[in-house]
Order: sequence, then C-alpha cells, then structure tokens
Amino acid sequence: MNSQELRAVTWTAAAGDGTPAVSLIDQTSLPHTLERLDVTTVDALIDAIVRLVVRGAPAIGAAGGYGVALAMVQGEREGWDRARLDAEIARVRAARPTAVNLMVCVDRVAARVDEGIAAVLAEADAVVREDLEANHAMGAHGADWLLKRAAPDGDRPLRVLTHCNTGALATAGWGTALGVIRELHARGRIEAVYADETRPLLQGARLTAWELVQEGIPHYVQADGAAAGTILRGEVDAAIVGADRIAANGDTANKVGTVAIALACAHAGIPFMVAAPTTTVDLGTASGADIPIELRGEDEVLEWSGVRTAPAASRGHNPAFDVTPGSLVTALVTERGVLEVAAGELPGTRLK
Ligand code: MRU
Repeated sequence: MNSQELRAVTWTAAAGDGTPAVSLIDQTSLPHTLERLDVTTVDALIDAIVRLVVRGAPAIGAAGGYGVALAMVQGEREGWDRARLDAEIARVRAARPTAVNLMVCVDRVAARVDEGIAAVLAEADAVVREDLEANHAMGAHGADWLLKRAAPDGDRPLRVLTHCNTGALATAGWGTALGVIRELHARGRIEAVYADETRPLLQGARLTAWELVQEGIPHYVQADGAAAGTILRGEVDAAIVGADRIAANGDTANKVGTVAIALACAHAGIPFMVAAPTTTVDLGTASGADIPIELRGEDEVLEWSGVRTAPAASRGHNPAFDVTPGSLVTALVTERGVLEVAAGELPGTRLK
C-alpha cells in the first residue's frame, strides 16, 4: 500500500450495520495491522480521539468535522432537540485541548447545521480536500526552502530529523512535515530520515517509520534522547516537525520533546522548520503561555504494554505537548509559503 493513498478519516454512508459512520484508520494497531474502526456515535468518536485511534492535529480536525455530521445523524435517530445536538457537538470540540484544528474544523462545519446534513457533509468534505491540497503545497514550499538553506552548495541529498508522526495518518493525506520529507524524497534529495521514536506512545517508531517503509524512504528510528546528540554531532542538516497550535508570536505547541530538538538546532546552527496548515495557526492566542497543554494519564509513562515499569510509589508526569518559543523556529511553512519566524516575520503579519 502506498501511503499517498492512505485516508485516515472518511465518512461512510453505511457502515457494517448500515448506519452512517466516521471511518478511521485505527492508529493504535499500527504498524502490525492496518485496519479501520467505524464509529457510529458521538461517544465512540470521542473515545477514538482520546485513545489516539485518530490523532495528529489535521486528522483530528477532519474527525471533528465529520463528527458534526455524526451527531446530526445520531440525534435524528435518537430524537435529540437542538440544545442536545449543540451540547454533543461541543463535546466533540473539546475531546482534546491542544490542537486548534479540532475547534476550527468543528466550528466551521457546525456553522452549516441549519442547512441540513448534506451541507454539513459537504463542508466536512471541503475541510479534508483543502487539507490535502495544503499539504501538497507546503511540501513543495518546504522542500524548495530547505534545498536553498540546508544544501546551498550543490545537489547533495539531505539528512533530516523528525519527531512524532506528521504523515498521511496525521492529516487528510500526504502529510505536513512528513509531506516536506516526501517531496524531498520525490526529488531525489533525501539521504536519510532520523525518526524519533516519540515517547511515550511511539508515534515515531510505530507510525512514521511505517509510513517511511511504505514510501521506501531510508530512515533510522532513534530514541528521543538521541536527537540532541545526533544534531550536535552534525549528523543531520535540518529538523522538520509539525504543530498542534501556533500562537500569534510564533510560539509552537507540538509533541512533547520538540523544544529540545529546537534548542539543539539553534546551538548547532541548522534550520528548525515547522510545517503546518494555516488551520493550525491561532492568531487569537497571543503566545505559547496561553496554549492549553494536554496532560495525559500517568500510566502512559509508568507502564509499558500494561506492565508497570516504574516503582509502584512513583507518580507520572505526562504532558502530551511542549511549546517551542517562536524565536527558535527558523521557518514556518504553510500552504501559503515560508515565513522566517526567527528572523522576525511572525505568523500574525502575513496570515491574517
Ligand atoms: O498526540 P498526537 O499524536 O495527536 O500528537 C501529534 C503531534 O504532535 C503532531 O506533530 C501534530 O499534531 C502535527 S500532525 C500533522
């Protein structure tokens, strides 16, 4: 299977039992099995978002968009009044707090509820279509910029580091940071990708590595703790990551561990690139200090595969994201082009 064809989130008019469903690639079972989970209720969709069956900011946004349609269909089946429907849509919107795409997409699609289910589904489809287009555009912009900045002398292939999973699985398709990497590979300009395993839930080792295998892109999976050393030893030319929310001053929330990569890149003097669609830019949030950071369950860091690895008396600290100061982001790539954030061109100046 070529991951260009992967669709993490789709709408299915008639799932197994004939009920309309949001159909999700179950990312908890990768890389071992590629299977879909069809959810037919708001509760099941929220559970899927919380358990990371579907994850990655744009993919959660798409799931939220179709979630509005799902709530309408369930409401019709179960006789909900408008207040109940609005409350259920609000629950979908709040399923995870950090990725602003969820709120943006739910609000955009929910604005069409009065026009009926066909209009709602058309809007959710548009969210998906536009995200896919945005990813291809940012892939091209990001690759152009990196080839100029990270390999200015000649046409040697690049060694890039990435964190978490930002590929087709995390989006409507193709990917953001992984989309830039995929574009570089298509141009014959990738020597190797260093994919951080991404503790504690291993989105890098399980999902990014799986996508890289599908694409035939040479890569190494490394422990998160190896990233700074790999960068400081000069073994990579650039780091490329995605984002869950970018504040107006360029501060960027992304998977926990990202800020350490940015610090190492700054020290080494190599580009730290953030690739994200404009739906991830939140001009209503002034700085990273105002971005809500999801704190997940302690067991995710205290256990492995259900087996306790830390002493019984230990407490866990499990922030799912961290914030990289905008001053450490060399370049922000969106579908509209490249902003050189660290050079003083803040998202708010050109993305209004
Ligand atoms: O907890 P996750 O797996 O949803 O976290 C995902 C990330 O941090 C991604 O880097 C981000 O959402 C961008 S996905 C294109």
